[in-house]
Amino acid sequence: MAAVDDRPIGVFDSGVGGLTVVSCLRKALPHERIVYFGDTARVPYGTKSRSVVLRFACQDAAFLSRFDPKCVVIACHTVSALAAGLLRRTFPSLPFIDVIRPSVERAVAETKNGVVGVIGTAATISSGRYQRALKQADSRVRVVTQVCSLFVPLAEEGWVDGPLVEEIARRYLAGMRASGIDTLILGCTHYPLLTGVISYVVGED
Ligand code: DGL
Repeated sequence: MAAVDDRPIGVFDSGVGGLTVVSCLRKALPHERIVYFGDTARVPYGTKSRSVVLRFACQDAAFLSRFDPKCVVIACHTVSALAAGLLRRTFPSLPFIDVIRPSVERAVAETKNGVVGVIGTAATISSGRYQRALKQADSRVRVVTQVCSLFVPLAEEGWVDGPLVEEIARRYLAGMRASGIDTLILGCTHYPLLTGVISYVVGED
């Protein structure tokens, strides 16, 4: 019988948004122990420079590695987009699971008209990581992107609905709606907390 590895799974994010990933992990893997680190002191990452995000990512992973995790989930899309390669090189014995590939695989499988939207932080969208990964997964896909910076502080404040949030979502997502996307990647850990208003504005379908 194979030995059970009862070490925890490490998960980190720039703030509370990564708890959306923890909640999915708990459903999928109810018997696993999870150690979560949310860098609420330094959130947001998505408006910071590449070099700062790389430094923070290495510090976060070093902190989590003290708990001897069997693997680490990079719940933060900004870190996944900018620093996943660096983390894998810096901590070669620690498996890192990023959030870009699963999102891309799902989006490519779901889209019917081949027009996929990606919303994310300024750092994630300007890295071009999602755009490249989607094109690699299916070269026929047309990618439409939008930075939605204000969604992060709204989610951190727990402001996830109401007229103000809806107005902000309308401003950000009007172009998305008009572009004919049939699939939208919430390319930031915080955005699932605003799923209600986002799907209301973009269209439930
Ligand atoms: N956790 C970040 C991400 O998923 C969003 C918040 C931030 O800007 O730090 O991209």
